[in-house]
Amino acid sequence: MNVPLSDASLTEEEKKILLNVFRRKRLALGSFLNKFEEKMKEYFNVDYAVAVNSGTSALHLILRSLGIKENEGMIVTPFTFIASSNVAMFERAHPVFIDIDPENYNIDIEKIELTLNDIDHPLWKRIKGLKDITFFMGVDIFGQPLDWDRFFELNKKYNWKVVEDSCEAIGAKYKDRMVGTLGEAGTFAFYPNKQITTGEGGMIITNNEEIAKLSRSMANQGRGDSYEWLEHVRLGYNYRMDELSAALGYVQMKRLDEILEKRENVAKNYYELFKEEDRVILPHVEEYTTKPSWFVFVVRLSLDWISNFIDIPEYMKSFDLPLYIPDNEREFWKSKVLEIREITYDIIKQLNAVGIQAKNYFSPVHLQKFYRDLYGYEYGDYPVTELISSLTIAIPFYTELDFEKQQYVVENFRNILNNY
Ligand SMILES: Cc1ncc(COP(=O)(O)O)c(C=O)c1O
Repeated sequence: MNVPLSDASLTEEEKKILLNVFRRKRLALGSFLNKFEEKMKEYFNVDYAVAVNSGTSALHLILRSLGIKENEGMIVTPFTFIASSNVAMFERAHPVFIDIDPENYNIDIEKIELTLNDIDHPLWKRIKGLKDITFFMGVDIFGQPLDWDRFFELNKKYNWKVVEDSCEAIGAKYKDRMVGTLGEAGTFAFYPNKQITTGEGGMIITNNEEIAKLSRSMANQGRGDSYEWLEHVRLGYNYRMDELSAALGYVQMKRLDEILEKRENVAKNYYELFKEEDRVILPHVEEYTTKPSWFVFVVRLSLDWISNFIDIPEYMKSFDLPLYIPDNEREFWKSKVLEIREITYDIIKQLNAVGIQAKNYFSPVHLQKFYRDLYGYEYGDYPVTELISSLTIAIPFYTELDFEKQQYVVENFRNILNNY
């Protein structure tokens, strides 16, 4: 049996609407673009929605609209998809990483101040020329909202501009409030592995007129309000969403609630099938997540189980980790993390060998080659992220995943662990 990691949910309605666009031959800047944006405004009860060609473009436009400047800092998690932090670098600003919570994998709010107040944190030698920290990029990782109220309480002191990277969390609610609507502007992404898809695509939602106006203009080559084709009033990009994508998004958006419900059922099935399996730790959903929006299903191997094969110190097993690893312990730390990761990768390989597509989600952003080259990050800079990343496995998860396939995934997963 082959079970892919993800698979888009497409029905006859999607096919019909695409044919409709095809027949009309209005392939860009057509009426579905407007309809899709209107649908978004209505669903999220916001004043503005701007459709663009990717989640990355959406994030970039918000930062530009809010005027992030060279050498300013933007707080962000290193346990995310790389676009969350890259967008600051597009503007020659710097991502300022803060480590994550080992339970929910979102940025650890408590660690924000602890890190910033620690003058010995490696961060300060990594980022040369950092001026003020002016932005906070809040990522709702894997569809799980971060603890926004705790963050906003802290932000009363700092007043960072807040951008929501809800690219993985469309439709999720934090204490009954829609994610994407909590900061100055929020974003969603529609790559085919997402809850809803437009092929490639992204969306900005906001109540801030200026962000909406500037983003719309910059997404369209800096054209002004007149929309004269060859009149450009500012530097812009071609970040426009095409009409086929917009039509697809419009239909998918109408099905969003149904899709989220189906995905919740798939997640529930996994919880049931993995019941009493203590070698695998399942995603932890916080109580404040009053409506989940499942993007991926990421499990992690238990360190207790892994310690049957390699020696693991107690402080690692209990995630009792410092803000950063002291210099004299770094070699040991790195070797342990890599040893653990080897087991995880081996399990992934064995899952793949029986037709189950699985992947390690995410690899720490700060340890990506060009981040290391540019900033000099090393193992030990963000211990929780590094350890969690060495253990996580995204298993097949999509809207139409049937129970039989889920059984196949879990049975094989268990067998692989039994025979390890
Ligand atoms: C957290 C996060 N941010 C940003 C993006 C960027 O979206 P896109 O791939 O559409 O550019 C993604 C997409 O995978 C994501 O998961």
